[in-house]
Order: sequence, then C-alpha cells, then structure tokens
Amino acid sequence: MRRRVFAANWKMNLVPDEARTLAGEIRRRLDADAGNSAGDREVIIAPAFVALAAVAEAIAQSRIALAAQNMHYAERGAFTGEVSAPMLAAVGVTHVILGHSERRHILGESEDFISRKVEAAIAHRLVPILCVGETREEHDAGRAVEVILRQLHYGFSRLEAGPAARVVIAYEPVWAIGTGRNATPGQAQQAHGAIRASLRDRFGAETAAAVRIIYGGSVNPGNIEALMAQRDVDGVLVGGASLEAESFVRIARAGDNL
Ligand code: PGA
Repeated sequence: MRRRVFAANWKMNLVPDEARTLAGEIRRRLDADAGNSAGDREVIIAPAFVALAAVAEAIAQSRIALAAQNMHYAERGAFTGEVSAPMLAAVGVTHVILGHSERRHILGESEDFISRKVEAAIAHRLVPILCVGETREEHDAGRAVEVILRQLHYGFSRLEAGPAARVVIAYEPVWAIGTGRNATPGQAQQAHGAIRASLRDRFGAETAAAVRIIYGGSVNPGNIEALMAQRDVDGVLVGGASLEAESFVRIARAGDNL
C-alpha cells in the first residue's frame, strides 16, 4: 500500500521564529495522534530556506519530515543565490519540492532545468516532490492531460525505473492554486489516473503502483476527505491552509474516519 503524503508548502511566508512556533504547534497536535493512525502517513513541512534550521529543531525526533521548496542541481559552485542538495541534506532536509508552477511560470524554470534537479535530488537521496499542472488556458482548451504528461515526461527523463519509484508527483492545476477553487475529486482522479497510466507505460506496473501522486490547489479541511477518497489520490500538497496549525492538522488526519 502506498503511504499517504500530507505536505505543507509555506511558500514565501513566516520568518524563522514564526516557522518554529507553527511547526511546534503542528508537531504537538500530531504527537497526540501517535499510536493511532500516524504511522500510515508521511507529514512533511516545507518552510523557506532561512527557516529550515528552526523547523528542523521544532520537529526533531518527531514523525514530521523536512522539505525544501527548491534547490539547484549542481553540488556547489558559482550560482549566486542558489542552494544545493548537499546543503539541504546537511540541515536535515529529506524532501524537496521541484518544478512548482510558481517557479515554472513566475521564475521561468525550464523542463530541462527541472529534470536536472530531479536527477540531482535522487543522487543525493532526497525525495523529489515533482509538481505538474496545466494553466487555466490549457485547461479550457482541453489540453490538461497533454500538458501534465509532457511535464511528467521531461521531469522523469533522467531517471531509470528504480529511482523513479521514489519520486512523489504533485498534480497542481495552476488555476486551483491559491484561488479557493479546487479541482473536483473527479478531475483530480482523472489527472492522477492518466499520470499513473503513463508511468506504467514507461516504467512498468510495479513502479507505477509504488509512486505516490498527490493533489495540490486550494486543499482545505472541507474538501480533503472527498479528494482522498479517490483511488489514485495518495495525499496532498497544501499552501494557504497549511499556514494555520488547526487546519493543516485536520487535513493531515484525513481518512481517520473512513
Ligand atoms: P494552495 O497552494 O493550497 O494555497 O492553493 C498549493 C500549492 O501551491 O502548493
């Protein structure tokens, strides 16, 4: 069975002290659940780079994992302003969000750049959370699946089947991010099903069955259960609703009452 993933993407919010406090609150609430169903899910927090160390302290010896929101593919060198995989690993990071739509569309990251990062993350034993998703225009033109599968193709272009199974894919329709307008559970399932079928064609049934495919885009405590009830939705990547302990913990407890 695929272990479910509940990831908080704090984006460019919270200074280190605020991040430490929020991570501590989330930790306290989830620690109280330990022994119930906490073991069947992975809870991940992705703060800004400058807050990684503070959050690492707040979640030490807990079940919560630490993620970065981006990284460069090179190990070191003349890349002003960038952060490498070994630097992230050194402060306790185990996961890294790559190819988020805000980086693709606002910061101009290319498919090739993203695929190099996926390769580098795997090489340094970080779990890549590879984001894919269509824009509003692409969605309206009926091109969603085509766009997602193209991004998937490039994202995995430097990986063999073995390492590919370790990647977490986040389907995040751009029109649903931060808009309060989430994809319907049916739309999410359709995209996730297409992603899994494509992985099966490319890497075989075993790898396709192992990859976690999570949904992102206006996830909140009110829509989480319906999303998680979909066969190929293995978790969520949460932006706005992860900036408040109670709402993120309610999301991370999804399925407890199923
Ligand atoms: P949102 O962001 O939950 O605020 O829509 C999700 C994301 O961008 O990862």
